Amino acid sequence: MTPSVAPATGRLGVLTVGLGAVSSTLIAGVELVKKGLGQPIGSLTQMDTIRLGKRTDGRTPLIKEFVPLADLNDVVFGAWDPFPDDAYVAASRAGVLEGGKHIEQISDALRDVRPMKAAFDRQYVKRIDADNTVGTIDKRAMLNAIREDINRFREEKQCDRLVMLWAASTEIFIEPGPAHQDIESFEAAIDRNDPTIAPSMLYAYAAILEGVPFANGAPNLTVDIPVLRDLAVERRVPISGKDFKTGQTLIKTVIGPMLRARMLGLSGWYSTNILGNRDGEVLDDPDNFKTKEESKLGVLEDILDPNSFPELYGDVYHKVRINYYPPRGDNKEGWDNIDIFGWLGYPMQLKIDFLCRDSILAAPLALDLVLFSDLAQRAGLGGIQEWLSFYYKAPMVAPGLSPEHDLFVQLAKLKNTLRWMMGEDQITHLGREYYDGE
Ligand SMILES: NC(=O)c1ccc[n+]([C@@H]2O[C@H](COP(=O)([O-])OP(=O)(O)OC[C@H]3O[C@@H](n4cnc5c(N)ncnc54)[C@H](O)[C@@H]3O)[C@@H](O)[C@H]2O)c1
Repeated sequence: MTPSVAPATGRLGVLTVGLGAVSSTLIAGVELVKKGLGQPIGSLTQMDTIRLGKRTDGRTPLIKEFVPLADLNDVVFGAWDPFPDDAYVAASRAGVLEGGKHIEQISDALRDVRPMKAAFDRQYVKRIDADNTVGTIDKRAMLNAIREDINRFREEKQCDRLVMLWAASTEIFIEPGPAHQDIESFEAAIDRNDPTIAPSMLYAYAAILEGVPFANGAPNLTVDIPVLRDLAVERRVPISGKDFKTGQTLIKTVIGPMLRARMLGLSGWYSTNILGNRDGEVLDDPDNFKTKEESKLGVLEDILDPNSFPELYGDVYHKVRINYYPPRGDNKEGWDNIDIFGWLGYPMQLKIDFLCRDSILAAPLALDLVLFSDLAQRAGLGGIQEWLSFYYKAPMVAPGLSPEHDLFVQLAKLKNTLRWMMGEDQITHLGREYYDGE
């Protein structure tokens, strides 16, 4: 059944949890694009096309002209952060964008985004010490404060719809447990301030209760727990996560499927990163790094399927390191050494050195996630949005399913979902119709 998609009329409020490097680069980028002072490079919603029908039909509209997406001129930003810096100060401190060329041109719009008081508890992010907070770590009080902020923002900015994006620090590693199973246990855990209820879960819970789609750009468990997955389905609120797939894992989910497609063996993959932004500083703490490590490590095993191919992938040494190195700031270097083997077992090597810019890669993903999450809601799609796996390192999927990591399978899934939403034929790549007449 093709869903009916409501039009994107009125204002879309985008609430970012965290006003750091990614959020300030996103907000600044959108404001620059609105003024024609920059191009939204890296964003499918703004730049990519979609093929409809046969290859000979010549129908390839822009995605944003094919599906009804919110116009950037209708987007208004809000944020929470324990640092009191507005988006102008946050962007200047993050050091991602050039002041004269970019930040100053849109300084008024950036100054307008002042962070609301964060529901923040240092137990979950030890390296951050700041006091623009709700002033309590009582979980019920934090939840209520977030819900009040959502509604106040909606009213003050006269938003017709909202989307929430977690672009805050990576929290410490938490495993799914008894408190996360159903609403009764979850509510009781909030009341007794159970440590397995992280602040990110309170933001996600508040969002779902207020009917606001939630996208998780970090690897925290957050909305990927049974109670919130079920509630999102029940309330028809789109949710997605986890962890923006921007740099090293983006490369891994292109090279990994290539090795598997050609039946080339893998004996080792060593990935190391140096970065010097605030994210790097938070991830320097072993408890926070563990959350990121799990998200980065899972990918290869899922792609290579060692159980089916033990002679090719049964003995892979996979290591991921992140090193905090202040001189590099947001300009991360991700270095991969890949030991592979081919015909008769002869060894070969691949070396990849990605001198990237973390937030420059993340901002367009954040924009697409926000616009597509809003689209999903207008299409009546609640619960996990697996078609948004394209954007994530550790895609959320229904229990019992293994995630799809191959970037190009993810892209095909995303575009087929858009075709399905608008009542167009799926593209299967069978292509018999071009030859059947011969
Ligand atoms: N940039 C990338 O390429 C990339 C890729 C994947 C994931 N991520 C994740 O995205 C997140 C944001 O990255 P960043 O570079 O902007 O980090 P950042 O450190 O610059 O910004 C994060 C902000 O979140 C704030 N924060 C922490 N806890 C909060 C809370 N409970 N409520 C509100 N705000 C809170 C911090 O004060 C900080 O200002 C990180 O978790 C990072 O791991 C980034």
